[in-house]
Amino acid sequence: MTEDDPGSTGEGTKDFAVRTALGTEWEECTALTGLQDPGCAQPQRDRVQRYHGVIRGWLLWVLVAVAGCGPQAGTAGTPSAGRTGDTAGPETAARDPRVELEAQGRYVFERNCVACHGRWGDGRGELAVGMAPRPSNLTRARFKFRSTPSGSLPTDEDLRRVVTLGIAGSSMPAFAALPDRDITAVITYLKTFSRRWDNPSLKSPPVAFPAPPSWLEDPEARPEHVRKGRELYRANCASCHGDTGRGDGPAAAALEDDAGKPAPPHDLTTGLWKSGRDPADLFRTLSTGMDGTPMPSFGDALGVGDRWDLVSFLLSLPAASQPGAR
Ligand code: HEC
Ligand code: HEC
Repeated sequence: MTEDDPGSTGEGTKDFAVRTALGTEWEECTALTGLQDPGCAQPQRDRVQRYHGVIRGWLLWVLVAVAGCGPQAGTAGTPSAGRTGDTAGPETAARDPRVELEAQGRYVFERNCVACHGRWGDGRGELAVGMAPRPSNLTRARFKFRSTPSGSLPTDEDLRRVVTLGIAGSSMPAFAALPDRDITAVITYLKTFSRRWDNPSLKSPPVAFPAPPSWLEDPEARPEHVRKGRELYRANCASCHGDTGRGDGPAAAALEDDAGKPAPPHDLTTGLWKSGRDPADLFRTLSTGMDGTPMPSFGDALGVGDRWDLVSFLLSLPAASQPGAR
């Protein structure tokens, strides 16, 4: 499909715009990242220097992760915060704010994301080899973690949640210490990887989710709902996720994602929930499904009450309440 072709996103024009917007900072950016860059790096940059770049990127990432664990999480002043704010000077006020934001986003992406997601966002970064699950191919623009109906693009809030919280049980880190504006910028930039983002019919407001029922917190009432949830699970989920939730149902081995790669069903007993472990997070996953994977949306097939019963069952699975699980 041409809309998915990374080559069709007008890369050349954007490159020029980005370089113009960044000016001297552009040089600084590539000097800092050391990663290959189509716009300004030497095409023959030798491999040693490239690996230095990756190592520098990782050191930075570790610093960010450490900062994220401290009490100052999210405040400016982390290494990645270096560039934030310095684009708001009067001399930049006349520039197109979107081009400006994309340029900043590209910078943030090259420092924090290329090693896995690849320079073009195609998921083929240097560290991606053998990684499971694979880094998402952002040029396909099909997103697992959404509050929007199946088939729609995610909202900015959905992307922000993924980038700041990371994805438990995968290599996708939590960028909790990245300043807000850097996150907004990188979200703006990742939308340049696919033309799907220009298609208004793929945009949709978030689904209005009901508040969690009060019985979820009631130890007397909950077991009955867990029992109903178990029955619903056997009928609707066990074929893929397996009788005990370990991801070994009869249909599991043959499952593929929309790129034709194996897509094993999630092991629901690890205590790691990719999209967050609050009941509302699981309710969202069940309601909107995970696009690009075989995990369907049950928003139409199952009523609100049934979905909450299923959530209570999932949270009753053995490992779900282990400490450290998210
Ligand atoms: C160390 C590797 C790594 C780095 C660095 C990384 N990611 Fe990821 N990312 C992943 C993996 C792996 C997945 C897929 C996880 C899955 O499918 O369960 C992913 C998934 C995603 C998704 C897809 C979510 C969805 O709804 O399908 C987005 C968006 C994303 N990453 C953005 C970013 C951004 C932005 C950065 C940089 C700020 C970044 N990632 C840095 C490994 C990485
Ligand atoms: C056709 C197979 C299939 C069916 C049926 C199915 N799932 Fe899934 N499910 C998957 C796959 C595959 C994934 C992993 C997607 C990924 O991360 O790539 C998944 C992921 C999930 C996740 C995400 C876990 C997380 O970390 O957030 C939850 C929760 C889940 N399924 C629950 C259910 C429930 C409950 C049902 C039944 C109502 C169900 N699934 C039915 C295939 C299926």
